[in-house]
Formats: sequence, structure tokens, C-alpha cells
Amino acid sequence: DLYNFRLIRPDTKVYGIIGKPVGHSKSPLLFNASYKSVGLNAVYLHFLVDDVEKFFNTYSAVDFASGCSCTIPHKEAALKCMDEIDPIAKKIGAINNIVRRPDGTLTAFNTDYIGAISAIEDGLRGLNGVSSGASPLAGKLFVVLGAGGAGKSLAYGAAQKGARVVVANRTFERAKELADKVGGQAMTLAEVENFHPEEGMVLANTTSVGMKPKIDETPLAKHALKHYCLVFDAIYTPKDTRLLREARETGAVIVYGTEMLIRQGFEQYKNFTGLPAPEELFRTLMEKHA
Ligand code: ATR
Repeated sequence: DLYNFRLIRPDTKVYGIIGKPVGHSKSPLLFNASYKSVGLNAVYLHFLVDDVEKFFNTYSAVDFASGCSCTIPHKEAALKCMDEIDPIAKKIGAINNIVRRPDGTLTAFNTDYIGAISAIEDGLRGLNGVSSGASPLAGKLFVVLGAGGAGKSLAYGAAQKGARVVVANRTFERAKELADKVGGQAMTLAEVENFHPEEGMVLANTTSVGMKPKIDETPLAKHALKHYCLVFDAIYTPKDTRLLREARETGAVIVYGTEMLIRQGFEQYKNFTGLPAPEELFRTLMEKHA
């Protein structure tokens, strides 16, 4: 009953995920179960889309369309089809969550950076025993490894929270370009090993180093990890990367890539429905269908 057939009526709202390929996406499973859990009259489908412009021209014109998620390869190309874009998403240059307003206009968000940053903030709050208020990232030295799509999300997200951002990348030019945009400092991956102007820094890996099948690799040597109070890895295959294992051994708080994945979904649900996400249901389904 993935598609909530019993709920389909003339006024059923239609959501979906656009991508190519898209059939592997678990989002329909998560969203349909969530809609059902609160009796929302809505379905969430897989949309295999080739031409994003054609798709959004139609999508903005049909009243049952209420919002969609956007995945590879459309996260950048979809930008030009939007009426309104979250300012940070615009800077990052990628969107993954689109809400269709009743007047047919399209508003876009990037929930990837919100998911990652909120997971890191909660990790730091646990460390400081602070429950709310100002961002615990404010004033922190925040080192981002990598300068690709995920690197941009983390760097802009952290900068927005008032962190002092360092971008370290194998290709220095890419680090420099991103660091300049966020008002941060650039270095190479080799340099970051001996970079410890202070203790209690935050580390976010967005490179693919350590991803399956090369699970023995790590983007930063263990000896360098002792200067960090929290280490996040955007990789989620495997969940427990070598970087996170070594960070844990060094005494840092660790934040899994799966946490970014799940929280970006919570944000999408909130934007779609205006309701808080059924977080436990999301978590249970993600684990069951991992
Ligand atoms: P994503 O959108 O997931 O961030 P991406 O845009 O392809 O993916 O970026 C991949 C990142 O991982 C880049 O920062 C890349 O470094 P380069 O800019 O030098 O290419 C980094 N990366 C990939 N393989 C790497 C490796 N073997 N060693 C170090 N960095 C690597």
C-alpha cells in the first residue's frame, strides 16, 4: 500500500521526486507512510524526468501538484525554473525541494545544508549542554574537507551560522574559489593535517574518501583529529567510516552522514505540509529499508 490508494480522491495532492534515474529512491516510501500516518490526503510518486524545463512548465500549471523533491542530475538545472529561491540555496547553486503555491508559483529550498548543519548543531549542543538559543557554531572554527556540491552546502551553511570557515581540498583552486565566496580561508588537504591554531574545532568531510568500496581510506590522518571536538562525515555508505571511527577513538563527538540524509527529509516534509515530520516513523523506515 505504498501509494495510499484508499486516500485518493478528486482533491488529492500530488507530490513526487524528479530525477533520472529515480526508481531507486526511497522517498516515496517515506513520504507516503508519513502522509498516511496523519491522514493527509496526498500521494508521493516517482517522476522520471529528462527535461526539467518542460516538466516545471507543466507542473506549475496543474492544481493537484503541490511540491516535489529534486535529485541527480537536476539539482542545478531546476534553479532557472523557480519563481523564488531560498537565498542560501541560491548561493550554493543547488536545490532539492520545491513547493508549488496555490497560485502556481514555485519556491525552492536546499534542505541538504539545513539537515547537515542542524545535525552538527545538535551534536555541539549535547557537548555544551546548551539546549537552544544562539547557534553553537557561532565563532567556531569550521573545517570543510572538499569543495564539490556537498562542500558548498556545508561551507555556506556554517558561514551563515557565524562560523569561521576553512575549506580544504585536494585541488587548491576549488578550495580557494569556495573559501573566497564564504569569506573563509583555503588550504590543501595536506596542509590541513598540520593546521591547529586552536582546539575544539569542527570538521566536516564532504570528499568521497572512505566511501564504499574504499572503506580503508580516510581524508585526514588520525593524529590531526585530536584538535576537533566534533567530526561529521557526509558519507553514509558505510555509516561508520574510518574517519568517524578514528574521531570517536580520539574523543570527538561524531555525526553520521545518515543524520544529514534523514534531517533533510524532515525539512522537505515541513516545507511540503507545514507540519512537523513524523521523525520516529522516518527513522524506523530508513533503518528498515537501508
Ligand atoms: P559532491 O557533490 O558529493 O560534493 P563532487 O562535486 O564530485 O561531489 O566533489 C567531490 C569532492 O571530493 C571534491 O572536493 C574532490 O576533490 P577535487 O576538487 O580535488 O576533485 C574530492 N575528492 C574526490 N576524490 C578524492 C580523493 N581521492 N582524494 C581527495 N579528495 C577527493
